[in-house]
Amino acid sequence: MKNILITGAAGFIGTNYVKKIAVKEKDYHFVLLDALTYAGHYENIKVDVESNSHLEFVHGNIVDEKLMDELFKKYQFSGVINYAAESHVDRSITNPQVFVQTNVNGTLNLLHHSLKAFENNPNFRYLQVSTDEVYGSLTEEDPAFTENHPLAANSPYSASKAAADLLVRSYYETYQLPTLITRCSNNYGPYQMPEKLIPLMITKARADQKLPVYGNGKNIRDWIYVDDHNRGVWQTFLQGRIGEIYNFGGQAEKRNLEIVELILAQLNKPKELIEFVTDRKGHDWRYAMNIEKVHQEFNWKPQVSFDQGMQLTLDWYLQN
Ligand SMILES: NC(=O)c1ccc[n+]([C@@H]2O[C@H](COP(=O)([O-])OP(=O)(O)OC[C@H]3O[C@@H](n4cnc5c(N)ncnc54)[C@H](O)[C@@H]3O)[C@@H](O)[C@H]2O)c1
Repeated sequence: MKNILITGAAGFIGTNYVKKIAVKEKDYHFVLLDALTYAGHYENIKVDVESNSHLEFVHGNIVDEKLMDELFKKYQFSGVINYAAESHVDRSITNPQVFVQTNVNGTLNLLHHSLKAFENNPNFRYLQVSTDEVYGSLTEEDPAFTENHPLAANSPYSASKAAADLLVRSYYETYQLPTLITRCSNNYGPYQMPEKLIPLMITKARADQKLPVYGNGKNIRDWIYVDDHNRGVWQTFLQGRIGEIYNFGGQAEKRNLEIVELILAQLNKPKELIEFVTDRKGHDWRYAMNIEKVHQEFNWKPQVSFDQGMQLTLDWYLQN
């Protein structure tokens, strides 16, 4: 049986990956690794791990060289999907060091051990889960980011992710390690930390608290339902061309204010709860993804519309 290492498996996107993909892929043995930082919650995947013998959880840090050495020796991984990261832009503005530790040094550690795994297994693959934020910011008129767009990260978070992407590229170019990079727009769905826009606004609105909106609220993000992203990651892992980068997006560009107003309307709460607050430092104006490549190569398209995805997300938060 093929052993696959999934890092960051107890985070928002990792949890949804475990529940929708890993549980069904019984031809693989998944080693689900997570450091359980403030953003990781083992309770969310415990039931899946305990009821599936092909899933195994390991509490550990991707920066830990000794642990990675032990895990790679024990399991002889045939693939790695690296979801683990410090992921919250605001936290990266106040404490960038930990972002470099995990996102840069952690990725390097995984690449280093992956190279040894590749020496023993020519079919080994390493997939880096990255973000549209590495491309920087667009104006209202700019065309959407393609995979060839220059890297122009603006926040410590996106800079650390861009640095990781370049390390991944260097392992492909220098050592021919079979690597893949996926870059995706803003995810939403169940199990997201309440500090991110959509869960934050749902939580505040339900409690009749003020909803803090950065600047004038007009910044634009492309939103993708988390299951569509994970389906793309898994398809890339299985079918992607080695050394390539693949963009994923939900084809749903929205201004932050539109999202907040939609949540208030769905929850029957007044717009007066909105409170405009001092803008985020270095706030990127707009992200938009050109997804032509994944459509051409994998016939991938988002399957969950923004309206459907928001309904699913609201229902989940109301029940949990
Ligand atoms: N959320 C988004 O909108 C989005 C969009 C594009 C790409 N991404 C990328 O997808 C990945 C997952 O994002 P998310 O939203 O699920 O983040 P998240 O913060 O919810 O989860 C990250 C997980 O990684 C774990 N982790 C952190 N540091 C670790 C370390 N040193 N070793 C092992 N585990 C560690 C955390 O405990 C957590 O469980 C990240 O790489 C992120 O950059 C996220």
